[in-house]
Amino acid sequence: LSVKKELEKILTTAPSHEFEHTKKDLDGFRKLFHRFLQEKGPSVDWGKIQRPPEDSIQPYEKIKARGLPDNISSVLNKLVVVKLNGGLGTSMGCKGPKSLIGVRNENTFLDLTVQQIEHLNKTYNTDVPLVLMNSFNTDEDTKKILQKYNHCRVKIYTFNQSRYPRINKESLLPVAKDVSYSGENTEAWYPPGHGDIYASFYNSGLLDTFIAEGKEYIFVSNIDNLGATVDLYILNHLMNPPNGKRCEFVMEVTNKTRADVKGGTLTQYEGKLRLVEIAQVPKAHVDEFKSVSKFKIFNTNNLWISLAAVKRLQEQNAIDMEIIVNPKTLDGGLNVIQLETAVGAAIKSFENSLGINVPRSRFLPVKTTSDLLLVMSNLYSLNAGSLTMSEKREFPTVPLVKLGSSFTKVQDYLRRFESIPDMLELDHLTVSGDVTFGKNVSLKGTVIIIANHGDRIDIPPGAVLENKIVSGNLRI
Ligand code: UTP
Repeated sequence: LSVKKELEKILTTAPSHEFEHTKKDLDGFRKLFHRFLQEKGPSVDWGKIQRPPEDSIQPYEKIKARGLPDNISSVLNKLVVVKLNGGLGTSMGCKGPKSLIGVRNENTFLDLTVQQIEHLNKTYNTDVPLVLMNSFNTDEDTKKILQKYNHCRVKIYTFNQSRYPRINKESLLPVAKDVSYSGENTEAWYPPGHGDIYASFYNSGLLDTFIAEGKEYIFVSNIDNLGATVDLYILNHLMNPPNGKRCEFVMEVTNKTRADVKGGTLTQYEGKLRLVEIAQVPKAHVDEFKSVSKFKIFNTNNLWISLAAVKRLQEQNAIDMEIIVNPKTLDGGLNVIQLETAVGAAIKSFENSLGINVPRSRFLPVKTTSDLLLVMSNLYSLNAGSLTMSEKREFPTVPLVKLGSSFTKVQDYLRRFESIPDMLELDHLTVSGDVTFGKNVSLKGTVIIIANHGDRIDIPPGAVLENKIVSGNLRI
């Protein structure tokens, strides 16, 4: 009850032009918070989790083998591409939206996305639009940049996800005292995860606009996944299903390696496909969950979803996503929680959902500067906004790269490489401490470079390091 009162008080501080959407946001939050208080205990019963049946996760090769129809352009014209763009570049030491970080030849994530879709539209003479789901954190900066694409052959739309109040962990009351989100209140609000897309897209009116235009599916993905390009074979499978039965929801999954402990996995639960995240797994079963033999695949967050189904379920209030409780400590030391949802968790609410096991190349996320080094290097070549692994690489896997904390921020990372080393023959790179790389360095096999505290290592220009450990002090 006291939360309700606090939220009402906050709403009274909204200026009239912000009143309606603030009310919608706070109503949405109140429902989520109410569920959080009601739902006690684990969100899944481990005993009911089963391996998904064979035909519910199909190999991509099988989908591809069906080929493409002649009318692929008309199929493409029923698609809308949506990129999740609510996140900031904070974890890579950047201010502003993550999508505006330069990732390859000065191109940002957003540039590459626009190039990919423009290429598609030019090649097939289509009008596939791009929609960005922004948050209050990214909207302003993103919109400023969008003018740059005015002359591109891609129509770009944006909508904003909700803004929810962070909750004091002890009192369970909102931290915010009014609706402002600058100054003292900067940390009092948060975007509630990408699961917010269903409600926000619906509320924005865009969902209805696209349905009225004859669009049928959205392809949703993380804007920092450079492998999430429009795949014509998957789209064709959706629009022309072999058994005549359309899927309302397709989740692209890919094979787990031992390094992939984070992503959720698809399971069979009470007769439906269900995404299970590690946070939902009872402690006693965490090892079983992580094992690559029982749960072989994980969610790439590349999702294909029927617009009509989103509309229907949203209007029935039938999209059910588990609540993720995310604890945070604010700058001043206050412990808060924020309640979030994930877009893929809604799979269980849709009819006839399907997993497609795609090649790893469709999952190319850039979360750290180690990832950035890989995508900037000659391991990949850039073609109309898409990165493909260089044919000169002899093995199909990418090297394991671990850059230490002096490389965490993009600015520091860029300063430490005079040019990006040749990595075509690299298997494993570990770098720690105060290390810099001169021009045209070549890294091969396993290379470990460790500058201890107080030491500095400058790898000289043109150096070829093959199966080498470098440590100590090496200044040039
Ligand atoms: P994150 O970077 O937060 O996710 O966002 P993650 O930890 O890698 O993985 P999952 O997918 O959440 O498990 C992934 C994408 O979602 C957007 C980010 O901008 C990024 O593109 N995002 C995240 C939003 O649009 N809104 C949010 O509230 C959170």
